[in-house]
Amino acid sequence: MSEKWVRVAAPATISNIGPGFDIFGMALTEPFDVIEGRKTDSGIVISEITGPGAETIPRDPKKNSVGIAAEAVLKKCGADFGLELKIKKGIRPCSGIGSSGASAAGGAFLAHILCGEKLSSNEVVMCGAMAEDVTSGGLHADNVAPCILGGFTMIRSYEPFEVIRIEPPKNLGVVVAMPDVMVSTKEARAVLPTEVKVKDLVFHAGNASCLAYGMEIGDIELIGRSVKDAVFEPARTHLVPHLKEAESVARSLGAKAAFLGGSGPCVISFFNKNESDGTSIASGIGKMYESKGMKCETWVTNWGAGCRRV
Ligand code: HSE
Repeated sequence: MSEKWVRVAAPATISNIGPGFDIFGMALTEPFDVIEGRKTDSGIVISEITGPGAETIPRDPKKNSVGIAAEAVLKKCGADFGLELKIKKGIRPCSGIGSSGASAAGGAFLAHILCGEKLSSNEVVMCGAMAEDVTSGGLHADNVAPCILGGFTMIRSYEPFEVIRIEPPKNLGVVVAMPDVMVSTKEARAVLPTEVKVKDLVFHAGNASCLAYGMEIGDIELIGRSVKDAVFEPARTHLVPHLKEAESVARSLGAKAAFLGGSGPCVISFFNKNESDGTSIASGIGKMYESKGMKCETWVTNWGAGCRRV
């Protein structure tokens, strides 16, 4: 069988976003992975991996996020064919902006197109989340969900699985700062506490509710006040050099919120596009890292639409 190639783009995503550990996520417009696939007679073969960090990514489809997610979709659809896949990474692995999540989402999204799009979006997201479970040390869909659905997403429940999408405010701008350090999600999940205090639970529920409400009504000040995390970021702060300094530089330059992206090391800032263009926040964080002798890539971006055919 020699079939036509289908190509999809799967964007970077921010997860956790303060109080929403494993629940909240938001798609970005860039960077993104590009995944190509075509039907074959049987089995899954990954014939090419290129881009930043490609040498660290397994080609074995049972250990590769794209391969695992694609296989889950083929199985769920009862497909009688296999796949050849090519992966072009645009998102550096171990960055905190959903590199494995984009591969998993892209693999699921692509396989779903090749299967004739028979599944619900919740089912496609869950196939991607199964890959995260294998590669990242725990089932979580807070990167895969926004990567597939776009906008801001909330996982109401994992069992049964249900995800809700909200359109974030148009004037919400995002600065991403990626210090030159790698943090694996597996490692960052291993340092988390296994229990939380009632006081912290109450704090998270209040902020999470108001953050979701702020997204819905487009209140960037309320979103900014609600990006708070009493449990997960504090447990991970030691994994990211100068995290707290980066956050306070961002806030001093007008960021409405500054926080650890996913499991790190990216530092994310939200700003109001009606007030600034975000460039001073990006350069302020970059200069702070430079003064500490560390490289840090920064860029200003927007929330985005999620996986798409290209
Ligand atoms: N919610 C996950 C975590 C995201 O923080 O471990 C990982 O990308």
